[in-house]
Amino acid sequence: MLKGGFGKSTFASTLGGILGDFRDHDVLVVDLDPAGHLSTGLGYYTRENESATDLSDVLLGDATLDAIVKNPGHGFNFVPSLNLDDVTDELSKDSVLASDLKVKQELVDKHLGEQYDYMLFDVPGTRNKLTNNAVVAAPNAILPLMPAPEALNGLRETATRLVAPIRAQLPGEFEILATVPNDLSARIDHQTKDRKLLEAMNTQESFASYLLAGRDGVDAQQGTLSDDYDLETVLDNHIPPFARIRPDEWNAIDAGEIDPPKPPIRHTGAIGDAYENRQPLTAYDPENPQLEYFGQIADIIEHGGIVQ
Ligand SMILES: Nc1ncnc2c1ncn2[C@@H]1O[C@H](COP(=O)(O)OP(=O)(O)OP(=O)(O)O)[C@@H](O)[C@H]1O
Ligand SMILES: [Mg+2]
Repeated sequence: MLKGGFGKSTFASTLGGILGDFRDHDVLVVDLDPAGHLSTGLGYYTRENESATDLSDVLLGDATLDAIVKNPGHGFNFVPSLNLDDVTDELSKDSVLASDLKVKQELVDKHLGEQYDYMLFDVPGTRNKLTNNAVVAAPNAILPLMPAPEALNGLRETATRLVAPIRAQLPGEFEILATVPNDLSARIDHQTKDRKLLEAMNTQESFASYLLAGRDGVDAQQGTLSDDYDLETVLDNHIPPFARIRPDEWNAIDAGEIDPPKPPIRHTGAIGDAYENRQPLTAYDPENPQLEYFGQIADIIEHGGIVQ
């Protein structure tokens, strides 16, 4: 749910592998991105002739979920992205509210807790009908962020245009379970792009305001929180411990008193290699050191939030 290329699809397949393969939960991963990068990365085509049964048939009530579910063989079931541009067109004909509820009604309400313990939705970087459907259907988000200047702008856009309106319509329900830095490679005791991202995430009131956009006392446009909020607590509740750096730690880093930490998730060649090999990282390189941290994100999903 962020502008392109920060790791959403990578997180979806890796977390699917952790929860389904390593932890034996019944997991369904759904590719809701018309570009279908996740589907490609698991070995599926994203276009077939229009008569193929696809997600639009399920959402319109003409087919069952089982008719479109695949088993890539990595511990989770998978709904590939197939003809999704047609799905968005179909949904756009419906009245606005009803069309945003389809994924919840047809996938989540019918199958979560029955056939599946967890459903993970991979969404496109731009907002469309399917993004709306995803946030309504799966109101617990994990947000990866890469150390690029546009990451924070992307998050502000997501917060003000998607999260805040959704929270206004579904009060109290939509949670950002964790926001996670991804693809880190530079040191953080100098003014690198990695440092800029980690420092913004770990110190800025505006960053916290994006996470809480739409809540009382939060102005994500201005980037401010009312006095009812304690900044450090908000950040503790949204940044996994492995990426959380508190003010005294920044001081110690800058004074050269401690070795600068190298927080996860690190830039990892095996992630690209796994994609080329059409496998999730959990299957391609099950001993990869970064999987420990994906495991901690899976813990957050299992607990429904960060446990201090
Ligand atoms: N930690 C990492 N180390 C190395 N490469 C990574 C890492 N995370 C993601 N990548 C690579 O970065 C690219 C973008 O990642 P990914 O496709 O998961 O992002 P996305 O948010 O789904 O993008 P889009 O919005 O385009 O769907 C991919 O080529 C992926 O293999
Ligand atoms: Mg993607």
